[in-house]
Amino acid sequence: MDVPVLHRLALNESPYPPLPSVREAMRRAVAQAHRYPESHPDDLTERIAAWCRVPPDRVAVGSGSVGVALQLFRAVVRPGDTVAHAWRTFDAYPLLAAMAGARSVPVPLSPDGHQDLGALLAALDHRTRVVVLCNPHNPTGSLIGAEALSAFLRRVPRHVTVLLDEAYVEFARGADLPDSPALSGAYPNLLVLRTFSKAYGLAALRIGYGLGAPALVERIRGQQLPFGINAVAAAAVKASLRAESELRRRVDTVVAERERLRDELVSIGWRVPAGHANSVWLAAPDPVGEGAAALAGAGVQVRHYPNEGLRLTVGDRKASDAVLTALAGLRGQRRAPNA
Ligand SMILES: Cc1ncc(COP(=O)(O)O)c(C=O)c1O
Repeated sequence: MDVPVLHRLALNESPYPPLPSVREAMRRAVAQAHRYPESHPDDLTERIAAWCRVPPDRVAVGSGSVGVALQLFRAVVRPGDTVAHAWRTFDAYPLLAAMAGARSVPVPLSPDGHQDLGALLAALDHRTRVVVLCNPHNPTGSLIGAEALSAFLRRVPRHVTVLLDEAYVEFARGADLPDSPALSGAYPNLLVLRTFSKAYGLAALRIGYGLGAPALVERIRGQQLPFGINAVAAAAVKASLRAESELRRRVDTVVAERERLRDELVSIGWRVPAGHANSVWLAAPDPVGEGAAALAGAGVQVRHYPNEGLRLTVGDRKASDAVLTALAGLRGQRRAPNA
């Protein structure tokens, strides 16, 4: 018998629905749905640029951050080129590379779940057109600090564009975070990729953006589908920018819940590395296959990478409690109710 899904923790979504002010902006935009949106999202681009404190010619908007990544690949890749990225990573990169006609070059993660920057550099050659870094990393949540990132960027040849995917950056904390908007002004071959799908909770609306040097941004905009950004989504993003402090508080709640979940998982015997995204990572050789089965049996959807690990999105407190109960039971331990 199928177990009903009680908690969706498989796709690193926000547990929160849109704020009332955002819903109201969407409702107003829906009432104008017989009108076309802007052919190119200049107004939205200007708002995002002002919010990021960069000039508008350094911002490209697209259909989710995957849309912007595809625009980049299509802008720079020629037949026979390659795209280097860590593996395991976000599954979309090899798919997007293939859509643009490139061959993927996967580079294994270090045993501790970090992207191996030395090995990635060593994998670059004259055919490489893009190297992808994911920071914080999906699925392990590991973080590349400011110094390591700068050293990497200094060593990447200029014919290679660095796609720095920061889909989860709002969930990262600490003194060593890279100032990526500033870096994207300093390196003409760097595109910083961000999204409204995660911290801003608008995954269904498909809006992402990239920050880069004007010449690179212009090439990426050249691949933008005219009228491709829908007006309801644009209205929701603008309303979200106006509600930023409220949304930041939601992110703080998710970060606090991530730390609680991690501490409790450690206390029941799982080894959980420090994570900087809205997820926690349980890695083999801990019994991740049994963990996946126990969670599925408890109606908790997570992402299982057989023989590698389990990625659990951080949801609300109730969802974490369901995770802890399922995984504690598995290891023969008992969790005190509401501990
Ligand atoms: C690392 C990473 N980048 C990008 C995305 C997709 O974001 P978007 O919804 O903006 O396309 C995801 C979604 O899971 C992700 O994990």
